[in-house]
Amino acid sequence: MYHSLRLEPSVEGYARVHGREPDPEPFALLRFRGVVHGGFKLRRCSSEGRGSSEVNPFKIMKELRTIILAAGKGTRMKSDIPKVLHALCGKPMIQYVLDIALALGSLRTYVVLGHKSGMVKKILGDKIVTVEQPKMLGTADAVKRAEKYFRSYHGDILILCADTPLLDKTTVKKIVQKHKKAKTVCTFLTAVVHNPKGYGRVIRGTNGNVVAIREDKDAAGFERDIAEINVGVYCCQGKELFKALKEIKINKKKKEFYLTDIIEYFFEKGLKMSTVETEDPAEGLGVNTREDLAAAEAIMRRKILKYFMLEGVTIVDPSTTYVHANARIGYDTVIHPFSFIEADVRIGSHCKIGPFARIRSGTKIDDKVEIGNFTEVSRSKVGSGTFMKHFSYVGDSSVGENVNIGAGMVTANFDGRQKHPTKIADGAFIGSGSILVAPAKIGKKAVIGAGSVVLKGKTIPDGSVAVGVPAKIISKKERQ
Ligand code: UD1
Ligand code: MG
Repeated sequence: MYHSLRLEPSVEGYARVHGREPDPEPFALLRFRGVVHGGFKLRRCSSEGRGSSEVNPFKIMKELRTIILAAGKGTRMKSDIPKVLHALCGKPMIQYVLDIALALGSLRTYVVLGHKSGMVKKILGDKIVTVEQPKMLGTADAVKRAEKYFRSYHGDILILCADTPLLDKTTVKKIVQKHKKAKTVCTFLTAVVHNPKGYGRVIRGTNGNVVAIREDKDAAGFERDIAEINVGVYCCQGKELFKALKEIKINKKKKEFYLTDIIEYFFEKGLKMSTVETEDPAEGLGVNTREDLAAAEAIMRRKILKYFMLEGVTIVDPSTTYVHANARIGYDTVIHPFSFIEADVRIGSHCKIGPFARIRSGTKIDDKVEIGNFTEVSRSKVGSGTFMKHFSYVGDSSVGENVNIGAGMVTANFDGRQKHPTKIADGAFIGSGSILVAPAKIGKKAVIGAGSVVLKGKTIPDGSVAVGVPAKIISKKERQ
């Protein structure tokens, strides 16, 4: 039985979706936020979005289309790779917001691409429409590039930035719901944070209504001390959005058109706007630097581990355990310290993993398997009841049930050009320090003596015993 963490950027969000109340204040998570993320407030904020639960979410989502902004260079990352492709818990950053759009039932999703767009396109599915932004002229210009797709569209548009991977889909849903219910021209997400540096500040009038968003570089005087920031998630009436974008002037300092200037435009026109504040301010973390990336990774990692612990997996030491997004682990499995479980790995129930184990993508491990210290398993299947407890490498292999893999066994799967498979059938016993040069087949209940080398292309028949270098099958008499 597996549990997976899919499309669930927040553990609190997951608990809500599944009708279970989250911890009121999970100590570990709070401490974690305080230490690692530093800048964000520790209190949970109230949300203006509350109270809209009677609106049917599915009806709402029917008319929704989404634009995801992902064209930026990500200059502050100082990287050859586009920012939105940098991995967070094994998953490209952009995938997190794409998953949210998908989960909310966005009818169409448009991704605005520019810098090294070819690289980003490769990871987008067929259902995504890509829009080119030829010059990085800012977030307003990026949205404008998608206008041609919305000429005959009269519904709402959800705008997400690809560099906010910690967003919770329930928060985004709240924005859309509130927007529909309050019939506003624009509803956007805010967060109250300890250190607002780098973010657009939300400027409110004396009655509390939103007046403008002031970008960090342009904020002056009291504006710099405003703790409420713009997260970069907006739900707008499509027609009004594009009307506003036509009026936005270039920012002289940054030589960019700011999407955030639509707020002041709507205010001046007297159009109604509303906001939703994040319950967990960490959701609003925008990844602009490698430091932000590490902070986001730490928060996401902690959420993933918490999810598995709540589902009955023992994580002996969460501070030294790394489980990627989309991994699945069954209950009563124990993960010992310094273990890495990569994306899309499946581990069954009642297994023991680690310490110091690395289970790489493409691996499926059945129930009651033990994978011990300094063992790496990659792109392989492992049947139930199998043990490999010390220093092994198992790559591109299919290992049956109740197999015993001795200390230091290695599948030599790469010949310098190509990877080859190894098949080890049920009940086989592979002696310590042996090398199986792939492709190789070890039959059912076959025994490979310690230190043997099974040569490339060899099949060791069921029930036989092979020993030596190169490994030779020996008779029953020789075995004595
Ligand atoms: C933006 C917001 C800021 C907010 C912050 C939240 C603007 C002007 N500012 O600032 O108010 O607090 O996000 O994280 O919107 N992009 C394009 N084309 C461009 C420029 C950017 O597609 O020409 C994309 C980027 O790839 C990114 C997103 O838009 O995914 C946001 O751009 P970024 O440069 O990161 O804006 P911030 O400075 O973080
Ligand atoms: Mg950003």
